[in-house]
Amino acid sequence: MAKERVLSGLRPTGEVHLGNLLGALNNWVELQNKHDCLFMVADLHALSSEYADSKGIRRNIRENVIDWLAAGLDVEKCTIFLQSRVPEHAQLHLVLSMITPLGWLERNPTYKEQKDELRDKDLSTYGFLGYPVLQTADIILYKATLVPVGEDQLPHLELAREIVRRFNNLYGKVFLEPKPILTHVPKLLGIDNRKMSKSYRNYIALTDSSDTIREKVLQMITDPARIKRNDPGHPEICNVYSYHNCFSEEKISKLAEDCRTAKIGCTDCKGMLAESLINYLKGLHERRSSIKDDPKKIDEILEEGGKRARGIASTTLKEAMAAMGM
Ligand code: TRP
Ligand code: SF4
Repeated sequence: MAKERVLSGLRPTGEVHLGNLLGALNNWVELQNKHDCLFMVADLHALSSEYADSKGIRRNIRENVIDWLAAGLDVEKCTIFLQSRVPEHAQLHLVLSMITPLGWLERNPTYKEQKDELRDKDLSTYGFLGYPVLQTADIILYKATLVPVGEDQLPHLELAREIVRRFNNLYGKVFLEPKPILTHVPKLLGIDNRKMSKSYRNYIALTDSSDTIREKVLQMITDPARIKRNDPGHPEICNVYSYHNCFSEEKISKLAEDCRTAKIGCTDCKGMLAESLINYLKGLHERRSSIKDDPKKIDEILEEGGKRARGIASTTLKEAMAAMGM
C-alpha cells in the first residue's frame, strides 16, 4: 500500500523553542518513519506578520532548519523545503482566493486571536486575512491527507477542507480533504505563564546555552501559595512542575510529594529543572554543532527538497488549471 502523505510547516519568525519541539518536531521525527513526509519552512507565511522587518527571515530559515535536523529529521526519510522556492504555492493561493468567500476568512477564530496577540504589528492586510488560504494551498498541492498540527490550527484545517469541497464541486475532483493529526502533548506555557509565543519572548529556545536556561528557569512563576520556604505547594498548578513532567527523568511523584510537604524549596526545584532541560537538550546541541561545521549542507538540503516538492506541486497545479478549463 502506498504511504499516506504528510505535510506540515513552521514559520521562520524567530528561534525554535521548547513548545515547537514538543508540539511539532518530536512528532515529525516519528512520522518520517511511517509516512511520505514533507516539512516546509513557511517563509511566505512568516512574511504575513514580519513584512515590515523581513530581513530576519533569511537567518531564521537557516537556523530553524539546523534545529529541525538536530531534533532528528533525516533527509533520507523526509523532504525539507522552503515555501517560497516553490512558486506553485503562490499560484494556487491566488486561484483558491477566487473561490473562497470572505465570510469564511473573517470568522476564522485564529485570525482575531493572532491580531490580538501581535498587537504591535499592523495585521489589517489582505495577505494576513488570506493566511489560511495559503495554508490550504500548501497542503493540497501535495495531496497530503495528514497534517500534524497543534489544536490552534484546527480551524485552518477545517477551512482547508471547505475550500477543497468547494473546488471539487465546481470543477471536478482534483484535491483530497486533509485530516489533522493532533499531538496529545501537554501544552507548555511560557516562563511567564502566558501562552508560549515568539512575540511574547517568554520561551526557552533550543539554542539557549546552559546559563541562559538556568536564568530563564529561575524567572518562572511558581505556585503563589508558597510565599515562605515552609508553605506547602500545589504542584498540579505550577508551571515548573509541568515542565518537570515533560523533561525530567527524576521521580515526578516524589517531587510532587516534596512540594506538597514543603520538603523542597522552589529554588531547588527550579535548579533541578534547569539541569534536566540542559540534559534533555544535550544531544540536540551536539548534533547542532556538527551540522554547523558544514555550512553548505543547509543550502543543499533546501535545493534538493525544493526540487522534489516542485515536481509534485507543478503536476497538481497543472491538473487544477486543466480542471478549471484554463
Ligand atoms: N500556520 C502554521 C503555524 O502557524 C504553519 C503552516 C503554514 C502550516 N503552512 C502549513 C502548518 C501547512 C501545517 C500545514 O504553525
Ligand atoms: Fe512549583 Fe517546584 Fe515550587 Fe512546587 S516546589 S511550587 S513544583 S517550583
